[in-house]
Amino acid sequence: MSMPSHSSLPAALHEALLSLLGPAGLLTAQEDMSPALNDWRNLFRGQAMAVLRPASAEECAGAIKLCVQHGVPVVPQGGNTSMVGGATPDESGHAVVLLTGRMNKISAIDHADLTMTIEAGVTLKAAQEAALAADLMLPLSISSEGSAEIGGVIATNAGGNNTVRYGNARELVLGLEAVMPDGRILNLMRRLRKDNTGYALKHLLIGSEGTLGLITRAILQLQPRPRSVEAALCAVADAQAALDLFAAFRRAEATAIQAFEFMSGVSMSLVNTLIEGATLPLSEAAPAYVLIELASPREGDALRSLLEETLGTAFEEGLVSDAVIAESETQRLALWKLREEHAEAQKRAGASVKNDVSVPLSAIPALIERATAACQALIPGIRVAPFGHIGDGNIHFNLVQPEGADPATFLARDHDIMNTVADIVLDLDGSFSAEHGVGQLKTYLMPSWRGGAELDTMRHIKEAIDPQNLFNPGKIFPSAAI
Ligand code: MLT
Ligand code: ZN
Repeated sequence: MSMPSHSSLPAALHEALLSLLGPAGLLTAQEDMSPALNDWRNLFRGQAMAVLRPASAEECAGAIKLCVQHGVPVVPQGGNTSMVGGATPDESGHAVVLLTGRMNKISAIDHADLTMTIEAGVTLKAAQEAALAADLMLPLSISSEGSAEIGGVIATNAGGNNTVRYGNARELVLGLEAVMPDGRILNLMRRLRKDNTGYALKHLLIGSEGTLGLITRAILQLQPRPRSVEAALCAVADAQAALDLFAAFRRAEATAIQAFEFMSGVSMSLVNTLIEGATLPLSEAAPAYVLIELASPREGDALRSLLEETLGTAFEEGLVSDAVIAESETQRLALWKLREEHAEAQKRAGASVKNDVSVPLSAIPALIERATAACQALIPGIRVAPFGHIGDGNIHFNLVQPEGADPATFLARDHDIMNTVADIVLDLDGSFSAEHGVGQLKTYLMPSWRGGAELDTMRHIKEAIDPQNLFNPGKIFPSAAI
């Protein structure tokens, strides 16, 4: 059992939170708080006066009311899987971290409405499994789904592997509930496909990264469970060939595409070298790879024929040099492991700088070519390891430190690297953060990318809803901006 350390919470606040949340809901010992103070990439380490673990929306509302009365900032945290330090408090030690993990119930799955009513702290994986157990599907899939929680997934408008067919988290949220900075529960739990009654507040909260309210519940849109699924890993020459292959599948049957993912040879070789049990099921390594998944609500072999015929033509046209089609569910999962372990493999390879960028599809080859050359010129020996959701125009243009280099020295150049890539992305009419959000890592880019009327409007909304700037301060807005 850990020794309680002195909590620097004001005594009255400490007492009120303890009586509201009980001892299981209030952590103040440093070793108990520690996991919540560090981000998983080890880029940020913050401090906090306490970590709160409310078990219901009512407890959240009560705790937030108390914190706001005392002027104490609240940093919401779900599975702590942010890529941009979005759930880590600053180093001042003045904030509390609010963990959503104890709000972990799925209260209803409705077959007629195709919906799931779910609390914020359920992991994405548990939500997917509950949908499958009901013979339905929650069509959102991200590499961190085993830890990422629904509240965080919605607060960051997560994208992932199935966006190409079903959209981002935003498209899957029908209803929402959140505790607002005035301590009131905003109940938008409506299961409606159509609802034009004033401002769409749920869309303001989705993607707000915890800066406007704390999401406590949601109603998610489900899909019928696919009856046939086919997956293939293909070797291709480059991103242009990958895009041509995507176009071929769109022409053949666009609605069958469930995922279309790109992996560079460099990033795939990191997975093969650094992840136990990862093996490339092709005869030799290639310059790049595509993972295609097709799905259909229909049983039968029509999907398999579609895959084989489209790949057959792609071979003849020279778009694909080698391919393997999964013959079983185990093989399909093994192909996905190669894709899903990319972030972990890059972490094991040393320090890395992530650029989660998007550009129009047609600009992807130029992005990869230009950004590769620019980064190699900036830091000789840098490992350029792009991969990602090419079907959405979203490439994780990640750079891994040169082999044997000092991680801290490499990370000290992170802004140089991010700016080098960002300049090219801007020139190609893209976005500097396609799905990871802004968090605290990328706030410095906001004035140049979103400045003027856009950032001003965001600031006005923030000031109106959270006038004391107590909800996840230091995120999205550059510090001087609010
Ligand atoms: C992924 O798609 O695996 C993540 O968003 C990755 C990353 O940038 O490392
Ligand atoms: Zn991604």
